[in-house]
Amino acid sequence: MVSVAIMGHGVVGSGVAEILTTHKQKLFASIGEEVYVKKILDLREFPDSPLADRFTKNFDDIINDLEIRVVVEVMGGLTPAYDYVKRCLKAGKSVVTSNKELVAAHGAELLAIAKEENANFLFEASVGGGIPIIRPMNQCLVANIVDEIAGILNGTTNFILTKMIEDGMQFDDALKLAQELGFAERNPAADIEGHDACRKICILASLAFGKHVYPEWVHTEGITKITLDDVKYAEAFSSVIKLIGKVKRLKDGKIDIIVAPMLVPNKSQLANIDYEFNGIMVRGDCTGDVVFYGKGAGKLPTASAVVADVIDCCKHLKTRKYLYWTDGNGKNIIPFEQSVSAMYVRAQGDDIISKAQKLFGDVTVITKDNSPENEKAFVVKEMPYGEFTDKTAALESDGVKVLSSIRIGDL
Ligand code: HSE
Repeated sequence: MVSVAIMGHGVVGSGVAEILTTHKQKLFASIGEEVYVKKILDLREFPDSPLADRFTKNFDDIINDLEIRVVVEVMGGLTPAYDYVKRCLKAGKSVVTSNKELVAAHGAELLAIAKEENANFLFEASVGGGIPIIRPMNQCLVANIVDEIAGILNGTTNFILTKMIEDGMQFDDALKLAQELGFAERNPAADIEGHDACRKICILASLAFGKHVYPEWVHTEGITKITLDDVKYAEAFSSVIKLIGKVKRLKDGKIDIIVAPMLVPNKSQLANIDYEFNGIMVRGDCTGDVVFYGKGAGKLPTASAVVADVIDCCKHLKTRKYLYWTDGNGKNIIPFEQSVSAMYVRAQGDDIISKAQKLFGDVTVITKDNSPENEKAFVVKEMPYGEFTDKTAALESDGVKVLSSIRIGDL
């Protein structure tokens, strides 16, 4: 029997407890012993839970229990998760977490402690919910040099955008629905401002390129400025708007990493990933494109990935799984102003297209029904983002108001 503890009994934590209870036989068959939930840490009371006798409000009951070999952290946030996880690892316990904020902020340090203590620190559920991505990248694709990773990494924003695209639903109504369905973060700003997707692409970039990428180094835009008009123009351009997290290896070995809404061509594999589903494309130099698809949020999909890590820890109580990257200094990341992309622009004013052509050269005009007379949408050719912002500033000086600008995803 392997004793485990679960810290947190929210959406994911209760899912982990549920799977460990309802799938007992299946899990027993996988490792040849019982996985026993000995303690559940939560400040709230759960008198109706079938595991009501295992609850504690005291972390000491976990850290001081030598029988507990694997600890699941599903509290979310950094406090007290960071402190608790560090102490568990230092005590030689393996830790499994779904906490992308924790891994993105402290992954390199926690992996180093795990290595030191010959323990495991696993976080499959931190990216892509129920989709296997960390383990496949770390094991199955390990022979590849990764050229690019691009993904829809946040279920809440993808749900909102899908509702806007398919049902013409307003942003706020779609967000409320995502919250009711349990996809959104406690503070949904982390979803809609792009921070959650940023943490996830940072984790994937750290894993792919071997050096920690901290979220504060990554240019991040959310979806709060996307309007139904932009959605309609994108449709007229045979595209859909998706929040994309992307990292690309450049010829000089540096990386171009960004989180931003993008117009994704309908023919792209990422264009048809809808609702709370996530999709992640990994381009390896040997494999070419490999695409991972599945539910990126929600109780049981995420808990499924956590439990898989628990099982892996139980199978490797005495050996470390090789999952590691070193700390980074950000010098391998290019400034976002140098990142090259074609851009969609929606603007208001007189003679917009001729003024835009003077600045940008040829532009592709997009037309849709029922647009105001003084509004135009167009796409400009690829250029560094800094050059684009200079030119849009010049366009505004020429009396044109830029209502929105969105990158064209080369995906
Ligand atoms: N809020 C996150 C999402 C949960 O919507 O994707 C899963 O990480």
